[in-house]
Amino acid sequence: MEVSSHIQLFIIVIISTSIFILFSCTKYPPQNLDCTTNTPPRCTTNTHRKTTLKYNSIYNTDVHNSNHHLMATPLHPLDPLTVSEINKIRSILLAYEPFRSSISISTLSLDEPEKDQVLAWKPGDPLPPRRAFITSFLHGQTHLLTVDVGLGRVIGHNVSVGSGYPMLTINDFETALQVVYSDLEFNKSILARGVHFNDLTCVPPSSGWFGLDEEGKRIIKVQCFSSQDTPNFYMRPIEGLVVTVDVDKKKIIKITDNGRGIPIPKAINTDYRYTTNSPFPDMTAQVNPNPMSLEQPKGPSFTVENGHIVKWANWVFHIKHDIRAGMIISQAMIRAENGEYRSVMYKGFASELFVPYMDPDESWYFKSYMDAGEFGLGATAMSLLKLNDCPRYAHYMDGVFAGVDGKPFILPNMICIFERYAGDIGWRHSEIPILGFDIKESRPKVTLVARMAASVGNYDYIFDWEFQTDGLIRVKVGLSGMLMVKGTPYENIHDISNTGDMTGTLVSENVIGVVHDHFISFHLDMDIDGANNSFAEVNLVKEETLGQSPRKSFLKAKRKVAKTEDDARIKLKLYDPSEFHVFNPSRRSRLGNPTGYKIVPSGTAASLLDHDDPPQIRAAFTNNQIWVTPQNKSEVWAGGLLVSQSKGVDTLGVWSSRNRDIENKDIVLWYTLGFHHIPCQEDFPVMPTVSSSFELKPVNFFDRNPILGAKPTFRKDLPICSAASSY
Ligand SMILES: *[C@@H]1O[C@H](CO)[C@@H](O)[C@H](O)[C@H]1NC(C)=O
Ligand SMILES: *[C@@H]1O[C@H](CO)[C@@H](O)[C@H](O)[C@H]1NC(C)=O
Ligand SMILES: *[C@@H]1O[C@H](CO)[C@@H](O)[C@H](O)[C@H]1NC(C)=O
Ligand SMILES: *[C@@H]1O[C@H](CO)[C@@H](O)[C@H](O)[C@H]1NC(C)=O
Repeated sequence: MEVSSHIQLFIIVIISTSIFILFSCTKYPPQNLDCTTNTPPRCTTNTHRKTTLKYNSIYNTDVHNSNHHLMATPLHPLDPLTVSEINKIRSILLAYEPFRSSISISTLSLDEPEKDQVLAWKPGDPLPPRRAFITSFLHGQTHLLTVDVGLGRVIGHNVSVGSGYPMLTINDFETALQVVYSDLEFNKSILARGVHFNDLTCVPPSSGWFGLDEEGKRIIKVQCFSSQDTPNFYMRPIEGLVVTVDVDKKKIIKITDNGRGIPIPKAINTDYRYTTNSPFPDMTAQVNPNPMSLEQPKGPSFTVENGHIVKWANWVFHIKHDIRAGMIISQAMIRAENGEYRSVMYKGFASELFVPYMDPDESWYFKSYMDAGEFGLGATAMSLLKLNDCPRYAHYMDGVFAGVDGKPFILPNMICIFERYAGDIGWRHSEIPILGFDIKESRPKVTLVARMAASVGNYDYIFDWEFQTDGLIRVKVGLSGMLMVKGTPYENIHDISNTGDMTGTLVSENVIGVVHDHFISFHLDMDIDGANNSFAEVNLVKEETLGQSPRKSFLKAKRKVAKTEDDARIKLKLYDPSEFHVFNPSRRSRLGNPTGYKIVPSGTAASLLDHDDPPQIRAAFTNNQIWVTPQNKSEVWAGGLLVSQSKGVDTLGVWSSRNRDIENKDIVLWYTLGFHHIPCQEDFPVMPTVSSSFELKPVNFFDRNPILGAKPTFRKDLPICSAASSY
């Protein structure tokens, strides 16, 4: 999670080229399908030709020539700023006093119109005013600006005097590294470790907030690694060396160099890249499943209209990239049996991501990253790798962002959208034959996934929003990439007299994977059949029968509607289980139940740090797993708007303590997905993906099973491919 980031912009272009996707398997024979013959697989189908046009209409939007982006105009009130709008904003800023001499943009994105304006808008209506919200650190001050693109001027400009700074920029990172590289004492430290300057890789992670010493200045804590003989420098830390840099004064505040006795771990076995000649000689025993891919003989069932509106099965929603949240889903609506589109969620996105490391050492204590607010999940997103990050029939969307200089740039293939058939069952029933019924019913489950991946320094986060035809939305986060590791003198735990002193696991010789957590807080502005909703906890409580039944005890569901924010701060408990419903008190099902959705947590973890530990104060949104607040345009980022070195005065924890009314109001549900991570050897040198998810699931929203009408799949619906020998 953490460290550098924007450096990727240079790499992106290289990654995203050259893989062509072809849709007919007669044209694109997968290799080695049949080990006895070299005959390419043949697919026959009499249905897919008709609908190839649909493919084309989707893929035509996936053109990466700049014309496509240069010509783009916004078509929906929530559409992200276009290339030409960003160019216009830049020229407005260049004519505006504090920016005349130098522009320095931390974030520049659409200032979304008020919710009621968006809800009232219909296709064909003029768009509400297009505005940009900009955060910038310039001449020693934090500037918050609102620019009206149509009016061609700055319409709001505040200088922030509170705690916290805007997201660090690539210029800040470069400055910090330059300052470090040109320092004599640092030079000496590096030489003393026996590291050649050509092999030195330093990263500029954020510093958290730890009291008065570091207040009033912007700080970066540079850490260094040896990249000799490996691209995986993260596994070769120069332990104990941390250089604290004042980015604005361009000077070093402190060099901590405590680890001179700790060897730099060896390069051997750290490279994880695939090479065709000899991948991992000592792992030749690895048996790979054959390459595989799904076919969609009748074409995909979704369309992407006007670049951002996804229509699939019974769902329609708006999707866009965001510099900070990565990916935002808006106005998700599902069609009821009568054809009416019913609103489920106004807006959902990853609001903050907190990653505290569990090591109090001088060179480790500050590692408590807030990846969305400090680095940006969009700013650190990388182009998805076709065929491997997403299936070959996926549709890709580019990101359009503003650089530090305010100029627009394109991040190709940032988001992919695809239908998924993972062999799962949507519903089924077979009847016992002796009862006289011959019933065998089953429906395959096909879902729609929108995906992006952020590489926040060493860690990779994969975000999936998955939509099901039965109304369920599953939000999944996958973690992969590299551990943040600590150097140690030890090569084997038998050499360690007291392993209890270790703050992690020995994952390779001289390498400790330090224990840490990941918390991803989602902002879920639920609008179940409209904006005014309530939140209820449906608690299962044990009742005693007092001898009136052979049963001694049973469970009863007790429903309690939350009146204020206090009632909706939820800590999950296995032995005091509840469901958590967001419902519309004025919209009833046929049977009179209020229509609702419940949030279904799973595999979650809670932060166990002291509430007054500085990182925990800043990440107070992890004090509970569920919160509900009244919708408020200023309460968007769970860790605050300005997160770098913030003291935690603008967090979800602070907002919620106002204890406002939340009953029958436009409310926002917050859910924090957590991971405790005790590293293990399998996490070295790159981690197999670990995932967790939560669900938003209809409760009495539909009058009955909404996929009763789903059709089974018949053999005639599918092409017959003859190459697979197992067919
Ligand atoms: C500036 O501050 C005023 C008053 O505090 C507020 O209404 C306005 O939204 C702020 N503008 C920006 C761009 O933050
Ligand atoms: C640090 O050492 C490198 C390599 O020996 C040298 O090129 C560079 O000039 C030195 N920098 C300083 C500030 O001494
Ligand atoms: C929501 O409730 C507020 C009062 O709390 C009311 O003013 C508003 O009209 C309601 N909105 C809708 C869409 O019913
Ligand atoms: C909206 O949020 C801001 C920032 O937390 C707060 O100052 C303001 O009081 C909130 N408005 C309401 C109506 O709660």
